[in-house]
Amino acid sequence: MRLFSSFIIFIFFLKFGVSLRFQAASIKGRLLCGNVAAIGVRVKLWPDDLGMDVDKNSDQFWTDRDGNFSVFGPTLEGSAKAPVPAIFRIFHDCNDGNRAGLRVFKFRIPDSYVSKGKEAKKVFDFGLLNLEIQPFDEERSTEN
Ligand SMILES: *[C@@H]1O[C@H](CO)[C@@H](O)[C@H](O)[C@H]1NC(C)=O
Repeated sequence: MRLFSSFIIFIFFLKFGVSLRFQAASIKGRLLCGNVAAIGVRVKLWPDDLGMDVDKNSDQFWTDRDGNFSVFGPTLEGSAKAPVPAIFRIFHDCNDGNRAGLRVFKFRIPDSYVSKGKEAKKVFDFGLLNLEIQPFDEERSTEN
């Protein structure tokens, strides 16, 4: 009986411990469309494998009048011991003609920039990107 209850406590701890684990990442940079600042472009930092409901509750970030962005956020860790990949996405319509929806560029932030806890310990410097570029693995979003 005693063994059984310690087992239950152990299981409880295992579950609880996992659900309380956080990871965080932060990224900054600047976006251009051709030679002008890409203003009001949505940028997002969120792991790949979490549900959309969680996503809706997360902070939203856009580039400012110079095309600058700074995105940070606690990203809830999954059940795995290893960090969940932190994915950075850019939703834009630069060099997209009259097509509906947005172009989506997707990047993985190196795990060495993902830290435990709710605040990022390092900021990844993305640098400057001209959104006219055409990545081979570009995706699309139906949002506008
Ligand atoms: C954008 O970033 C540059 C370089 O860090 C800075 O000089 C400029 O003031 C920033 N613009 C805004 C609107 O914060």
